[in-house]
Amino acid sequence: MKFFLDTANLNEIREVASWGILDGVTTNPSLVAKENMPFKDLIKAIGEVVSGPISVECISGTAPEIVKEARELAKLASNIAVKIPIAIEGLKAIKVLSGEGIMVNTTLIFSASQAILAAKAGAKFVSPFIGRLDDVSQEGMELVEEIVTIFENYRVDTEVIVASIRHPRHVVDAALIGADIATIPFSVMDKLVKHPLTDIGMDRFLKDWGKVKK
Ligand code: G3P
Repeated sequence: MKFFLDTANLNEIREVASWGILDGVTTNPSLVAKENMPFKDLIKAIGEVVSGPISVECISGTAPEIVKEARELAKLASNIAVKIPIAIEGLKAIKVLSGEGIMVNTTLIFSASQAILAAKAGAKFVSPFIGRLDDVSQEGMELVEEIVTIFENYRVDTEVIVASIRHPRHVVDAALIGADIATIPFSVMDKLVKHPLTDIGMDRFLKDWGKVKK
């Protein structure tokens, strides 16, 4: 399973890159808005740290505008995946852009039918937002299960990015289902490594090591 970091914060990106387990980054307008840096400079700076895909979102509404914006975004680094919200205009744009070899991450996926259409249009990635489904009393992970099964049924190459992850169990469940990628906020990435019994165990070993004759 690939791990993407769901952030536009350079310190967080540099930190997780130093762990040696970072496969890519996803941003969105809300995440970019939190950073005190001009948008293009920020994306270029992320591109200097991350060699895997960096998702950057298009905000245009019509297919020709989305295509134009996406082509510009794709120039910011060699590894940009343009993020396009699922919609009819978005589908038209995905078809054009994927035909040009530009990676598209179709975002705001809340149903399997949306994922099927994005894949048919040639998207490299689809991003089901599981936490936001959980928030409205729907089981987000069931959507991931449906999409993964459908893509396996038809040997679809489009990769599933499990997005809107809120806690470590989301990551584990996504891995059990066989999703290709989890995009994880820094706070959850940090929790993935921790366990209270590991801390207790380390304390005990250190104490006992003090009693060893040296
Ligand atoms: O990158 C998009 C997605 O992960 C957003 O998550 O927590 O705003 O639903 P959230």
